[in-house]
Amino acid sequence: MSYPYQIKTAEAYEAAYERSVKDPEGFWAEVASSFLWRKRWDSVLEWNFSDPDVKWFKGAKLNITANCIDRHLGTLGNKPAIIWEPNDPEEHHRLITYRDLYQKVNQFANVLKNNGVQKGDRVCIYMGMVPELAIAVLACARIGAIHSVIFGGFSAQSIADRLKDAHAQTVITCDGAFRGNKEIPLKNVIDDALVQCDFVNKVIVLTRTHTPVSMIKGRDVWWDDEIRKIETLGLHDCPAVEMDAEDPLFILYTSGSTGKPKGVVHTCGGYMVYATYSFVNVFQYQPGDVHFCTADIGWITGHSYIVYGPLCAGATTLMFEGVPTWPDAGRFWDIVDEYKVNILYTAPTAIRSLMGYGLGPVQAHDLSSLRVLGSVGEPINEEAWQWLHENIGKGKCPIVDTWWQTETGGIMISNMAGVTPAKPSYATLPLPGIQPILVDENGNEITGNDVSGNLCIKHPWPSMIRTTYGDHERCRTNYFATYPDLYFTGDGCYRDENGNYRITGRVDDVLNVSGHRIGTAEVENAINMHAGVIESAVVGYPHDIKGQGIYAFVIFTNTHGDENLSRQDIMQTVARIIGPIAKPDKIQFVSGLPKTRSGKIMRRILRKIAENEPGQIGDTSTLLDPAVVEEIINNRI
Ligand code: WTA
Repeated sequence: MSYPYQIKTAEAYEAAYERSVKDPEGFWAEVASSFLWRKRWDSVLEWNFSDPDVKWFKGAKLNITANCIDRHLGTLGNKPAIIWEPNDPEEHHRLITYRDLYQKVNQFANVLKNNGVQKGDRVCIYMGMVPELAIAVLACARIGAIHSVIFGGFSAQSIADRLKDAHAQTVITCDGAFRGNKEIPLKNVIDDALVQCDFVNKVIVLTRTHTPVSMIKGRDVWWDDEIRKIETLGLHDCPAVEMDAEDPLFILYTSGSTGKPKGVVHTCGGYMVYATYSFVNVFQYQPGDVHFCTADIGWITGHSYIVYGPLCAGATTLMFEGVPTWPDAGRFWDIVDEYKVNILYTAPTAIRSLMGYGLGPVQAHDLSSLRVLGSVGEPINEEAWQWLHENIGKGKCPIVDTWWQTETGGIMISNMAGVTPAKPSYATLPLPGIQPILVDENGNEITGNDVSGNLCIKHPWPSMIRTTYGDHERCRTNYFATYPDLYFTGDGCYRDENGNYRITGRVDDVLNVSGHRIGTAEVENAINMHAGVIESAVVGYPHDIKGQGIYAFVIFTNTHGDENLSRQDIMQTVARIIGPIAKPDKIQFVSGLPKTRSGKIMRRILRKIAENEPGQIGDTSTLLDPAVVEEIINNRI
């Protein structure tokens, strides 16, 4: 195996960047050449952004699992591919070598086949953070089934919506999941979702919590029983199905500014190349490193930097089932010491919550194995950056602030650990191959430095979104229609005097709560499901730990009862429709909402009120009923 393309010095970064702009195809052909292809590509790139139609490595044939597993067997067979740390530190951890992973993925791929799953079928995976989740993902990829992982915190309704959108006929789940002191009844949630989805004909259930579950005959089967069947049949290897570079690998749903989540589609070849390239370069992965990404595989970060990127690079990836604060706030640091973690990739919200516990939980730890720290999901504020730098990195570990999105598949703008300089609260510079530009409202490029604008990307990169599942037009209007010939990120951005990028947050109606994207329209739709709600408007406000909190203004029919009970009720409704992550932090009952004469809600005004900056509301004379603003300000929570 040739080692993936790695840039090791600031000069090499400059040179690679320049080359990637002048000769993108030559650059990416070189990066891609270290992977295992069954057949080489006929062309590196064909594209237009107007349809959009982007094809990377056209004509190439591969299977990503051959790259993640098979090709490492000769050299790394006995090396841990996955270290699994359970929720409860008293329970035994698991080490899964590359050879074990090969065997387990092949076995489960045979289970899928034996249950009728074929290339191109959509498989929904709704599991906790157990190794079988990674195994299920890879088993799908091995047989060319398209996985759609749904985060374990989503509710039955959200699952049903996603199952219907992808028309997934197979579901893989667990009886339950452990998270801190909670037990989440995953199979029960699936059962509730499936009431609406009679097209699902197979549910494979892994035992994890031993929670009693009901199994429907003919539809529901146990993971272990299915494995035994495969063994009885004497099936061992499952050949990796030959995939076209542009065949879909997975769908991952994410929020946008409309009420309906979008199924972002990534493809086999380009995604593999970019996830691995960005992993190796941003974190400056060294053979033998233990990489601990604290995300959940239910999000893109887990897909790219727990599963595909690290495994393609032959790394040891650490999967953690639990939460950072249970049984105590030293959990991450225990794990770092126990497994001598070298790379820790986490989220600002986790750092901020741990900061709240003071230095006690950190001090008893050595942490000297750490070499690189990483942050993702939202801008890392300077205070959290410094805390991480001093107390965890002991002043010697570079921190990479990685900006990217579900749609980009991999890290786009970030410093490269120890190679290019960090600047607190800046994602800094684009990776070679990535061409960001800033534009004004009319789509005119804003050139020069010390400027702000909307962040767009002007040239394709291998792991970019190809379509939104089942609705290509939606992909076009969402990302490629705002500004012609550009991919629009939805983020605002500042470029400093040295060309460093600082993401300033979403410019659309999408919130970023604890690093998770939540569309305000989705939350409003959920609130409006409550029988007592007439209308609602949701905005974000600064929150010490979550980054952004959710502030809901609600017109409610019966405010004479106990307001707090009504609030609880509304929160429950949101948790039931979307999931607990979307619960509003604040609910204010109002008699009306500020609207223009044409009936449009003036969110700008509500945002200022939620941010407690009523002085900045500005002119309200164009409103239908300016008095309502006064009332809302006076009753602010
Ligand atoms: C935000 C997560 C600032 C941004 C990988 C983006 C960030 C959205 C950063 C994507 C960062 C992510 N600095 N903002 N380092 N990383 N974001 O799809 O608004 O869950 O558009 O992907 O998170 O969130 P998503």
